[in-house]
Amino acid sequence: MPRKMLVTSALPYANGSIHLGHLVEYIQTDIWVRFQKMRGNECWYVCADDTHGTPIMLRAEKEGIAPEALIERVHAEHTRDFSGFGVNFDNYYSTHSDETRQYCELFYQRLKAAGLIETRTIEQFYDPVKAMFLPDRFIKGECPKCGARDQYGDNCEACGAAYAPTELKNPYSAISGAKPELKHSGHYFFKLSDPRCESFLRQYTRHAEGRLQLEAANKMQEWLGKPGEHKLTDWDISRDAPYFGFEIPDAPGKYFYVWLDAPIGYMGSFKNLCAKKGLNFDDYFKPDSDAELYHFIGKDILYFHALFWPAELAHAGFRTPTSIFAHGFLTVDGAKMSKSRGTFITAESYLQQGLNPEWLRYYFAGKLTNTLEDLDLNLEDFVARVNADLVGKYVNIASRAAGFIGKRFDHKLTAPTADLPALLAIQTAAPRIADLYEGREFGKAMREIMALTDQANQYIDRVKPWELAKQADKEAELHLACSNSLNLFRLLTVLLKPVLPVVAEKAEAFLNIPPLAWADAATLLPAGHAIRAYNHLMTRIDPKQVAALVDANKESMAATAATSAKPAAQTAQPSAAKNTPESATINIDEFARVDLRIARIVEASHVEGADKLVRLLLDIGEEKPRQVFAGIKSAYDPAQLQGRLTVMVANLAPRKMKFGLSEGMVLAASDESEKTGGLYLLSPDSGASPGMRIK
Ligand code: 2FM
Ligand code: ZN
Repeated sequence: MPRKMLVTSALPYANGSIHLGHLVEYIQTDIWVRFQKMRGNECWYVCADDTHGTPIMLRAEKEGIAPEALIERVHAEHTRDFSGFGVNFDNYYSTHSDETRQYCELFYQRLKAAGLIETRTIEQFYDPVKAMFLPDRFIKGECPKCGARDQYGDNCEACGAAYAPTELKNPYSAISGAKPELKHSGHYFFKLSDPRCESFLRQYTRHAEGRLQLEAANKMQEWLGKPGEHKLTDWDISRDAPYFGFEIPDAPGKYFYVWLDAPIGYMGSFKNLCAKKGLNFDDYFKPDSDAELYHFIGKDILYFHALFWPAELAHAGFRTPTSIFAHGFLTVDGAKMSKSRGTFITAESYLQQGLNPEWLRYYFAGKLTNTLEDLDLNLEDFVARVNADLVGKYVNIASRAAGFIGKRFDHKLTAPTADLPALLAIQTAAPRIADLYEGREFGKAMREIMALTDQANQYIDRVKPWELAKQADKEAELHLACSNSLNLFRLLTVLLKPVLPVVAEKAEAFLNIPPLAWADAATLLPAGHAIRAYNHLMTRIDPKQVAALVDANKESMAATAATSAKPAAQTAQPSAAKNTPESATINIDEFARVDLRIARIVEASHVEGADKLVRLLLDIGEEKPRQVFAGIKSAYDPAQLQGRLTVMVANLAPRKMKFGLSEGMVLAASDESEKTGGLYLLSPDSGASPGMRIK
């Protein structure tokens, strides 16, 4: 029985270009969907532009156009980029649509009827010049912790502290520069803290339920806290005018927050597809639907997809997602994509430089796993891997055999050796490789396929068609060797087709066969089958092309910087690649100026009147322990910290705080995004002792 499946990728914001970081996800999803279709499943892949919110409204204003015009232009750009990379959506729509609006209103009505919507007055910064409330990212000021200037309203890029915008010193509006005022406003909340939501989510997010990857499930359980802890807080789903979005039906001047309508945009896009294809929407979204629903997302938006979204669906009378598949971020040459280094590569520039998109699809496939781990595009390795595997191994099989079949055998094949070990190996491996595709272990699948490709080449190297061709009495052997080779090539094409749809299509044309399905891995081309003339299937990458691509992206950034009229695309809504480091290089002497020491936390306590801080007493082998105030309360209970070792900066100038003197700083890793919020204190390996220098 074919499965019924609906698959989505995250909706990209309609104010920025698609770049290689985005493409990891769309290529991952597309490969999976193509695989499902090849298996004969009824699988629909929908997406849309995420069009609402303050940054898009302001961007349009800056460009002097209506937001509708901006999102229309970006929709065309995104559509062009995705199709350029073979990302084959069944529907690519927009959240600014009637369908999405209708479902937003329906969710709102149903959640309200269920008693899960509440109104509350909140106090928020307001820009008196722009006459609008300011989202956290549009308020800047001095960090309340380290005093760094020009920090955003949610966290400090200098010291990493997280805080509320109201804690900033000397705040100003990033839009007008005006001093913001605190103003009251009525907001609508989705009551995530309601016991119904909590108990539903406690169950839903368990790893054993099969919906979330282990790491994601653990993270969710951490956010949920222990039973009785009531860690979930209600979610503010409204924004005040002016706002580009959907107005709340019974609340003039109030709009649905962009993150409320974004996932509903998945439904909107699918509803639109249903109308085009005559599909029954309810079959896919009714509570007891037997269709499967999958969301591919970046790990930075798990909170929205694994908590808010399923809780909304469940309580608005819809089915919930079958699984949520999160992936890690892309680095290029080991670092965050960087505009100055030219590694912030847009999809458009890649295509414009004439690079083959299937090179990148293959390279990403080779690196993709089913975990949340980040993946690296190493540009040198990219060239080497693609040239060796695709051109040197795979395409080579066809090119070595095709000419002889054309010239010597009137394009016709002879019956292959059905029990040829290299053929049997592929046929035996196909179900295993199908499992790897199904389980999103694309890297493992590519390695298996390349091992089979090696075996195919070994066969050809052994029978040496080019030598048989020179011997008049070896006609039948030559015919067989070449027919076997083309059968090997055809089977390998089945296995690679989800990753390389264009090459596969060219191979199908050359082999003169209908589109390959997965089941074709079990069959062979019969005697007498006529092939067509061979045209090259893929060229090698010239390293110069990659160098030119990097150069082109450097130049385009210089141009953007020079014409500052165009705001940087993603400032307010950073993209998937935001969590990896990018900083100017320093030399070893500069690094050595930071005195890092192993510290033992001898005492940890709450700080009266501070909701973010923990007071630590740190032993670094000095006479008296140091006192440090650390903004780690959201992640650590002081009682857990006593006695553990960590790392501190020992030569940071002491700072007088409201609560006392802070004599240093402890180091913690964090996910910059406020949404995932995790904080991880560093610990040394066992054996280290207080006071040891770290270098
Ligand atoms: O983080 C982002 O880029 C969002 N635009 C993703 C939205 S996904 C979904 F919920 F619509
Ligand atoms: Zn700071």
